[in-house]
Amino acid sequence: MSAEALAKLINERTNDKPVDMGLILGSGLSGLVDLIKDAVAVPYDDLPGFPHAGVSGHNPNLVIGTIEGVNVAVFGGRSHYYEHGKADAMRVPLETLKALGASAVCVTNSSGSLREDIPPGWQMLITDHINLSGTSPLIGEPGDARFVDMVDAYDPELIAAARRGAEDIGVPLPEGVYTWLSGPAFETPAEIRMLKTMGTDTVGMSTVPEVILARFLGMKAVGFSNVTNMAAGMSATAITHKQTKEWAAKSADQFQALIKAFLKQYKQL
Ligand code: HPA
Repeated sequence: MSAEALAKLINERTNDKPVDMGLILGSGLSGLVDLIKDAVAVPYDDLPGFPHAGVSGHNPNLVIGTIEGVNVAVFGGRSHYYEHGKADAMRVPLETLKALGASAVCVTNSSGSLREDIPPGWQMLITDHINLSGTSPLIGEPGDARFVDMVDAYDPELIAAARRGAEDIGVPLPEGVYTWLSGPAFETPAEIRMLKTMGTDTVGMSTVPEVILARFLGMKAVGFSNVTNMAAGMSATAITHKQTKEWAAKSADQFQALIKAFLKQYKQL
């Protein structure tokens, strides 16, 4: 089904609710859907080309409504490269988002921190990324449009709005570089030492392909990384997906407050 046909199907369910921004929720962060006013949920299963429920901690619905007056389409869950080896797994959802009229995407993830001053429970504003997966969602894409400019991929105006939002609510929001590795195994301590020398601040298994696709499709991007653990070798405790979900739950209130504060600022742009 084409993105236009999917958008039509969604619009029939929502009575043509407008959509300005997409939000993609990371592992354990799907509680954000509770903030949506006048919400209409469309299960991914009704949307051909949308990902199937794969990873626990994700909510397989597209929920359309408003948060802080911003018309949003919230992806309760995402597809990860490690689930199937397809880097473009979020292409149909993002194309559909564009067809719904969105001009921006807010990507969120759970991550490991390489910075002692960004402990679990904190959020980091993503200012840039490193793609260390060895792949791209645009491999095989014909034509010159595939040569996407990735300077300011994380939109400076949206970054500024996020900064102001964090300030408004008094939540510290450090900024840094997110690195994408394929996973699903967590990193080795040697890999983390390597990433540190490269300038990585947080590490995870998502987000980057979606930002590449958003830029390819001409949508602005902004990203928040929710730290659920110190990266491999940096703390005495083992890294587990259970821990990711537990810390995501513990930081849910602050994470949601931050997204709301960002959207409030976004509304004023
Ligand atoms: N590494 C990769 N992905 C992650 C991590 C991590 O330490 N924590 C949560 N997602």
